[in-house]
Amino acid sequence: MGTSVPAKVCGLAALPALFASAAFGYTIAQAERGKASYQMSCSECHNSDLNGTAKAPALHGDAFLKTWENGSTYALFVKLRDSMPAGHPASMTEEEKVDVLAFLLQVNGIPAGQSELKSDRNELENIQIAPKGQQAVPNFAVVRLVGCLTPGSGKSWTLTRTTEPEVAHEDTPTPAALKDAAERMLGAGAFGLLGAVAFKPESHAGQKMEARGLLYRDSVRNLLNLTSLETTGVACGN
Ligand code: HEC
Repeated sequence: MGTSVPAKVCGLAALPALFASAAFGYTIAQAERGKASYQMSCSECHNSDLNGTAKAPALHGDAFLKTWENGSTYALFVKLRDSMPAGHPASMTEEEKVDVLAFLLQVNGIPAGQSELKSDRNELENIQIAPKGQQAVPNFAVVRLVGCLTPGSGKSWTLTRTTEPEVAHEDTPTPAALKDAAERMLGAGAFGLLGAVAFKPESHAGQKMEARGLLYRDSVRNLLNLTSLETTGVACGN
């Protein structure tokens, strides 16, 4: 690879096979508790089968996913925390609402994991909502990642311990976005970086970076064709 940023990311078969995994989740038991709370506090308006009533919209299916997809679970949690049940949001504790959130994730096809969901912003931001069987963010979308800049073999560079890709509306970060990146909890993903050389990566090895670029994922690799690679000024640590 030269110093120019490649225009296309397909066909670069020489890149290492990389894999992202969701490190967080909810448990089946938690979703069961959430289901019970849902039936008590939400079903009156949203229906016991979540299909909605004349009073309130459905909480699963295409329309619901369209509203929330490509965003993180955190946005959905904020909705529950601040405004549901409509009219008396203080009638339930945050813990009860997180359980209901776990139930909503389950109904919407997000697989259960090993540990319970908590009302932790970083954790919730790492869980993306996507329609069943689809990736959260489509390939070739411009996304933002936070991760640890790691040298690979040859002149290749990888972002390790990344957050889940989020759709980005700008190619480069604002100061506020960089500050947010500095505070993000690192995740469990890994992305091969295309065009890293143009951003002088040597001087930032081992640092927590904010990266933006075109996303490409398939079954064997995760790639980011960079439009921006900036240090948050923070070392990754362990
Ligand atoms: C008194 C009726 C009522 C109750 C009870 C209620 N909701 Fe709602 N809910 C609404 C209405 C009306 C809306 C649409 C307006 C809005 O978004 O605020 C809504 C919207 C929502 C949305 C956003 C849906 C979307 O796609 O935009 C979510 C999520 C939600 N409710 C979850 C819950 C949960 C979970 C509970 C139980 C903890 C609950 N609601 C209890 C009336 C209710």
